[in-house]
Amino acid sequence: MNAAKHLIVGNWKMHPSSLAEAKKIFRALLRGMGTYRHATLAVCPPAAYLAALRALYRGRRLIFGAQNCHFLREGAYTGEIAPPMLASLGVRMVIVGHSERRAMGEDNAVVRKKLRAVLDEGMEAVLCIGEAHRDSAGAYLAFLTEQLQSALTGLTAEELSRVCVAYEPLWAIGKSAAESAVRPAHVHEMVIFVRKFVHQRYGGEAAARVRVLYGGSVEPANAAALLLEGRASGLLVGHASIVPKDFLAIAALADRPAL
Ligand code: PGA
Repeated sequence: MNAAKHLIVGNWKMHPSSLAEAKKIFRALLRGMGTYRHATLAVCPPAAYLAALRALYRGRRLIFGAQNCHFLREGAYTGEIAPPMLASLGVRMVIVGHSERRAMGEDNAVVRKKLRAVLDEGMEAVLCIGEAHRDSAGAYLAFLTEQLQSALTGLTAEELSRVCVAYEPLWAIGKSAAESAVRPAHVHEMVIFVRKFVHQRYGGEAAARVRVLYGGSVEPANAAALLLEGRASGLLVGHASIVPKDFLAIAALADRPAL
């Protein structure tokens, strides 16, 4: 994937409730998708729909992603989905450590194993980090350092180049752009924070290259500011990603050179 382009990832979460509806959304995306010079698009539909949607599109202009996976390659784990299964469907990217998964009991140790498993399978990962609250004393920065430190331990520089870090503050997720308290300055602060973290461990080149996405209440109304003033390398889009016109509007806004 071209690291110089903005990466726009759609996280459909547990929507929509039927395959027919999923196909409708997906077809609308395919119809409206342009040829972007400065943006790369990815969609992460529910795993149940991946194979059917993949059958509708075999190209490489749109990246197929998954929202989660197990950390083992196979085994007696009822209901789980293993990384090789996703890879065999043409999935190239997996979201790891989303706060909604962490809320279901995934701790940093599990997130680390999942990240390892995704990279071992040759796929890319979107590693989500984010604090529940901000405090004036800066304790949230220690919390984020811990999440990063734990997940990235032991990765080689090549492996790190296949990880996008998505900063998703819990206090901004699931809100409309108008209700959300997130500002481009918050995003810019975190882009610098993640690059500094990477700089200390992997050096300047890796720090300049690592992609730092922002996610949480991204809509067409705030996408351009979060990207351009926030200096994010891309966006992780939740509710707006299942509204094709909104997701396509965000993609169009992202189709300008990264700063
Ligand atoms: P949202 O979700 O865009 O609906 O806030 C983002 C996410 O949770 O990835």
